[in-house]
Amino acid sequence: MDRLWYGGDYNPEQWPAEVWDEDVRLMQRAGVTIATVGVFSWATLEPQDGRFEFGWLDDVLDRLHAGGIRVDLATATASPPPWLVHEHPDVLPVTEDGVVLSVGSRQHYSPSSATYRRYADRLVRAVAERYRSHPALEAWHVNNELGCHVHRDYSDESAAAFRRWLEHRYGDVATLNEAWGTAFWSQAYSSFDEIRPPRTAPTFRNPTQLLDFDRFSSDAWLEVYRAETAILREVSPGVPITTNLMGFFKPLDYWRHAALLDFVSDDHYVDPADPAAPVIAAMTRDLMRSLGGGKPWILMEQSTSAVNWRRRNAPKPPGMYRALSLQAVARGADGVMQFQWRQSRAGAEKFHSAMLPHGGEDTRIFRETVALGQELAGLSDLVGTRLTAPVAIVLDWDSWWALEQAATPAELSYQRLLLRWYRELWRRGVLVDFVRPDGDVEGYRVVIAAGTQVLPQAAQDRLAGYVRGGGTLVVGYQTAILDEHLHVLLGGYLGALRDVLGIRIEEFAPPAEPSVTGGPVPALELAGLAAGSAQEWGEVVRVAGAEVLSTFAGGMLDGLPAITRNGSGAGAAWYVATAPDDLGAVVDRVLAEAGVEPGVPETPDGVEAVRRGDRLFLLNHTDHEVEAAGTRLEPHGSAVLPTGATADDGRAD
Ligand code: GAL
Repeated sequence: MDRLWYGGDYNPEQWPAEVWDEDVRLMQRAGVTIATVGVFSWATLEPQDGRFEFGWLDDVLDRLHAGGIRVDLATATASPPPWLVHEHPDVLPVTEDGVVLSVGSRQHYSPSSATYRRYADRLVRAVAERYRSHPALEAWHVNNELGCHVHRDYSDESAAAFRRWLEHRYGDVATLNEAWGTAFWSQAYSSFDEIRPPRTAPTFRNPTQLLDFDRFSSDAWLEVYRAETAILREVSPGVPITTNLMGFFKPLDYWRHAALLDFVSDDHYVDPADPAAPVIAAMTRDLMRSLGGGKPWILMEQSTSAVNWRRRNAPKPPGMYRALSLQAVARGADGVMQFQWRQSRAGAEKFHSAMLPHGGEDTRIFRETVALGQELAGLSDLVGTRLTAPVAIVLDWDSWWALEQAATPAELSYQRLLLRWYRELWRRGVLVDFVRPDGDVEGYRVVIAAGTQVLPQAAQDRLAGYVRGGGTLVVGYQTAILDEHLHVLLGGYLGALRDVLGIRIEEFAPPAEPSVTGGPVPALELAGLAAGSAQEWGEVVRVAGAEVLSTFAGGMLDGLPAITRNGSGAGAAWYVATAPDDLGAVVDRVLAEAGVEPGVPETPDGVEAVRRGDRLFLLNHTDHEVEAAGTRLEPHGSAVLPTGATADDGRAD
C-alpha cells in the first residue's frame, strides 16, 4: 500500500448485517485504510464439518472494497469450532500437570495435533481458493498470535513429536545423554522411546531437557505457520503473508519465526498505568524493526484505551493513543492497527476498548480515532523508509529460557536486564537495534550483551572478532556462562570473551534477602565510575589485563572489580558485573568513547525524540506540559516536525 495501514480487527460476524454499512461509513470517516477480517470466524465459516458458508464474508469483503478499504484476511484457524472438538477431543492441549484444556475460550488445540492440522489445512485452502482474487485482498493473516495461551503442549501426541525432534537433533541417544548431562541424578536414557516432555516432576527437572522442550515447542508453533503458508503460497502466490507477533514474547523464538514472515507484525498492549510503558513500547518497536532486518513492520494490534485482561484496567489518558501510535511509526512501522474496530456487545472482550466504542461516534475515543486517521494520512510519504541504529543489543531466546530456569544463582528477569540498558539509550535519544548473538554486528559502533547466558562457540568468536576489529562491546553479568547444551564454560566462564575482556569470573555473589526472616534484597555499593548503589548482582571478578573503572565497596566483594575496560585489537570490551543505579554514567562513557551521537535534539525527561525520514517525532509521555526542541507539547501531546533533512545514521563507515 502507498498509505500507512490504519484500522483494526473487524469481526462483523458478531453483529447483524444492518450494522455493516454503518461500519464502512464510519471507517471511512476515521480514515481507516485496512481491516483485519475473520480472525475468529471458523465456526461461522464452517458451521458443520465440511459445510462452508462464505456468503456473509463475500458480502463483507465486497462492502469494504466498495468503501475503498483493503483487507488483511485471516485464515480463521485460531479457534476451532465446538463440533470439531466434539468429534475429535484429541485436538485439545494438555498442561504440564496433565490437565486437558477445554473448548469454550480460544486456542484450544495442540500445535502438534494431526487432526487439528487436517481440519485447519482444509479451512485455509477453502478460504484461500475463495478469496485469492478478491480485489480487496492486501495480505494474508495466518492464524492469530501463535502460542499466545498455549505456550507448550504436553500431550502424548506432542511427546511423540518431541521424540522425533530430538532424534533429528541428536541422531542417537548417547549424544542426547551427553548433551543433557544425564549422568546427573540417574537420568540416562537407553532409547528415545523412554523420553517424555518435562512434565511436572518432584523437583528440578533436567535443564537441557527443559531448554530442548522450549526449543521444540517454539518450533511446533513455527510448523503451524509453515503449514498454513505452504497452502497460501500454492493457492494465492504473490500475496504477502504475516502473523501477529507479541513483542517480547518468551515462548517463541522470534528470530526463527520472523525469518518466515513476509513482513513482521506485532500486537502490543502497554499498561497505561505503568510509568515504564513508553520505554517498554519503544523497545518493542525497535525489536520488531530488528526482527525484519530493518524493513518496515506493522503494529497489528493495540488498544485505543483500556484492555479487559489485567486485574484493573486503566484507560489511556487523552493523547496517549496518538503518542504511542506515532511512536510506532517513528520507529519504523508502516501501519497502526487496533484491536478492534467496533467494541463487542457480548463475549469475553466486551469491556476491551475499541476504535468505535459502545458509546458510538460522539465519544472521546472515536474523536481520537478520527483525528489519528487524518494525521496518519499525512505521513504516507514515510511508507517504506528505514532507520539506522548505531547501537545493538543482543537478544537470544536460548538465553532467555535458560536464565529464567529454576536452580540458578538468583532469579533474574531477562527482559528487565535488557530494559535497564535500553532505557539509558532511549533517554539519550540513541536508536537501538536488537541482534542475535551470532548475528551481523559489523557496522554498529556499540554492541551490548547482557544476560546472554548461553553463548555457543561461534557467537563467542563473532563477538570477540567484533572487538578486535574495532568495535566496542559491553558485556553485562550472566553472559557467556553456558554453551548451547547448558554446559558450563569452565575456567572462569566467558569462553572466548575472556581474552578480549581481560578478566575471568571466579564466583557469583548475588545479594540475597534473608529467606527465613524475610526482608528486601540488600543493595551493593560501588566506588569509581557509577559510584553509589547497585542492585541484583555481584560477583568475584579477577582481572587479567583489564583496567578497573569501578570497584565494589564493603562486604565480601570489597575492593573487587565491578566495571572493567580492556583495549583489545582495534576495539574495546567493557564488563559490568552488577546493575549500578547510575548505569547512565557507564553508558555516557561508552557512547562518548565510541563516538555515538543521538542524532535528535536533547529533550526533557519523559519526552521522546525520534527521526524517521525527514520527520522529527516529539512525544511527551508525561502528564504535564513541556517544551522540547522549541515546541510546546501538552500533557501526552505529540508533534511531528519536518526536519528538511534525513537523519544522519551515526553508524561506523
Ligand atoms: C490479542 C488478540 C485479540 C484480542 C486482544 C485483546 O491477544 O489477538 O484477538 O484478544 O488481544 O487485547
